[in-house]
Amino acid sequence: MNKKKIIPYGKQNITEEDIVAVSKALVGDYLTQGPLIKEFEEHFANYVDAKFAVAVTNGTAALHLSALALSIKPGDKVITTSLTFAASANCIRYCGGEVVFVDIDPNTFLIDLDQVQKLLSNSPKGTYKGIIPVDFAGRSVNLEQCKKIADEYGLWILEDACHAPGASFIDSNGVSQKAGNGKFADLAIFSFHPVKHIATGEGGIITTNDEKLYTKLLTLRSHGITRDAAIFTNSIEQAGGSLIDITYPGWYMEMQELGYNYRITDFQCALGLSQLKRADDGHKKRIEIAHKYDLAFQNASKIKSPGLEISANFVDQHAYHLYVLLAEDRLGLYNHLKANGIYAQIHYYPVHLMPYYRSFGWKENDLPFVESYYSKCISLPMYPTLTEEEQVFVIETILNYYK
Ligand SMILES: Cc1ncc(COP(=O)(O)O)c(C=O)c1O
Repeated sequence: MNKKKIIPYGKQNITEEDIVAVSKALVGDYLTQGPLIKEFEEHFANYVDAKFAVAVTNGTAALHLSALALSIKPGDKVITTSLTFAASANCIRYCGGEVVFVDIDPNTFLIDLDQVQKLLSNSPKGTYKGIIPVDFAGRSVNLEQCKKIADEYGLWILEDACHAPGASFIDSNGVSQKAGNGKFADLAIFSFHPVKHIATGEGGIITTNDEKLYTKLLTLRSHGITRDAAIFTNSIEQAGGSLIDITYPGWYMEMQELGYNYRITDFQCALGLSQLKRADDGHKKRIEIAHKYDLAFQNASKIKSPGLEISANFVDQHAYHLYVLLAEDRLGLYNHLKANGIYAQIHYYPVHLMPYYRSFGWKENDLPFVESYYSKCISLPMYPTLTEEEQVFVIETILNYYK
């Protein structure tokens, strides 16, 4: 039987080099907590221009640990966007906080910072604790503007940069600022799920320039346990150590707060390190693919390629995790593509309209721009190994549908 080739919207790229790197880690001395974790963290921090990185089991764990490190408490109000994967908001709920969704700017699809400012200025100071902006589709939020607002009202910033390794915005001095570089946000998180730029199977990372938060994250990642004798609170006697030598026993470690096991493994980091070497090439390929889509759809009447229309002057490098079209008769187009083996995807059903968040009172028409965006958006195949022939097939299949 001649099996029809499926073209997904996103796909990992595993090379011989990756396989060799992982195989070497598998037969090495460490399967879980080995030296490749720190090496991967250092290389990734370097890649995004941040000082520190903490690799974890997935992007959701990265969000959860960040929410804990930023001390979200029950009842704390935290602002985020509804145009994201649910995990960006869920991390607030994990800590008992209240999620306050703000609409998107219809030009960039990013959280509308003017609306954030308005919300804050209309509330008593201290009402809101933090903001979680999302670099949606791979376009970096203007974090300089975000930080100005956050500083004015005493908010922390947790940047969800899952879509944006390699993305950047231009600050007011004309300097390019990479997503996740820690200069504006307190913490940033990334995911290494296979559809993302760098894959480790499941995987995620938190970047920061704040050494205190970094140390706290390391402890929270591993049960809240520390091995640092300088900060032990139990006495040497309580630990069963020698009062003559005045030392803690060699085996002793202390659980000082409630943490988790969100540790990534050494062989996953071997894959991450190998993938990271090709991150710039993959990003370049994504930009090429996006430009071809832009050109192909520039004169189409029933579909809009928003990439061509972005007027925001802060956008520098778009990471193109997603390439989104706004299409009339989106359902018809989706089904037509699927019938032709092209598995487009919708990013995202608005998070505030998910049944879980409706149960907090969120409803239709609360966020008109997100809802109008959802009625038309469709993500086209976008990954470095998408061939020219496949892309032409995707483009022709779309244009034919509207003929
Ligand atoms: C914007 C965003 N935030 C968070 C996550 C969660 O990452 P993970 O799937 O690695 O838990 C994702 C992944 O889909 C995402 O796209």
